[in-house]
Amino acid sequence: MKKELRLQTLAMLEQISTEEFNRYASLLHEHLLQLPSWKQAKTIALTMSRGKEIPTMPLIEKAWQEGKTVCVPTCFPETKEMTFYEYTPETKMISRYFGLTEPDPQVSAAVHKEEIDLIIVPGVCFDQQGYRIGFGGGYYDRYLADYHGVTIALCLSLQQIEYVPAEAHDISVSMIVSEKGLLYQK
Ligand SMILES: Nc1ncnc2c1ncn2[C@@H]1O[C@H](COP(=O)(O)OP(=O)(O)OP(=O)(O)O)[C@@H](O)[C@H]1O
Ligand SMILES: [Mg+2]
Repeated sequence: MKKELRLQTLAMLEQISTEEFNRYASLLHEHLLQLPSWKQAKTIALTMSRGKEIPTMPLIEKAWQEGKTVCVPTCFPETKEMTFYEYTPETKMISRYFGLTEPDPQVSAAVHKEEIDLIIVPGVCFDQQGYRIGFGGGYYDRYLADYHGVTIALCLSLQQIEYVPAEAHDISVSMIVSEKGLLYQK
């Protein structure tokens, strides 16, 4: 069920032209940057976006300009856990898991969960209650299980679906922001 919804949504995203996608993405960025949760956050965690994911590099640069600490995750497939490391223009990145660009755990500074004010949570589709379908690893569900800060998902409005068949381990996000503005707030 989750798998079908994930594939259906990814197929819909593929239909959107790059121009249209980029236009929506910059509208979305503007909405996000206005939110008190963004403005007040001193330490922000996000991923390096790929493909038809809302680009995060402009957000990373904005966060740096605003004097915020940025961190990005490295996944550990053996344990299905991830750790966030501080990300600066000097951070040495490696490609290890799934072709993702990640900080090198050997030489990077880990950031504790309690230090992160805001996590930008990736995902494929989202429902009206903030439940999400991610990429299927369960990495975020595990990480968020004992996280107490704010979580925001970024998506195009077409990625919002009626209902996500959430399981006991699924963790909803605090807010969903799209090109139309705030789609959901807890
Ligand atoms: N807290 C947890 N403890 C143990 N297993 C978990 C936990 N959270 C998720 N899992 C397992 O991880 C697998 C993937 O979960 P799910 O299908 O919800 O992925 P997802 O939400 O799309 O992924 P992600 O969280 O990485 O975005 C499932 O088999 C699930 O049982
Ligand atoms: Mg899940």
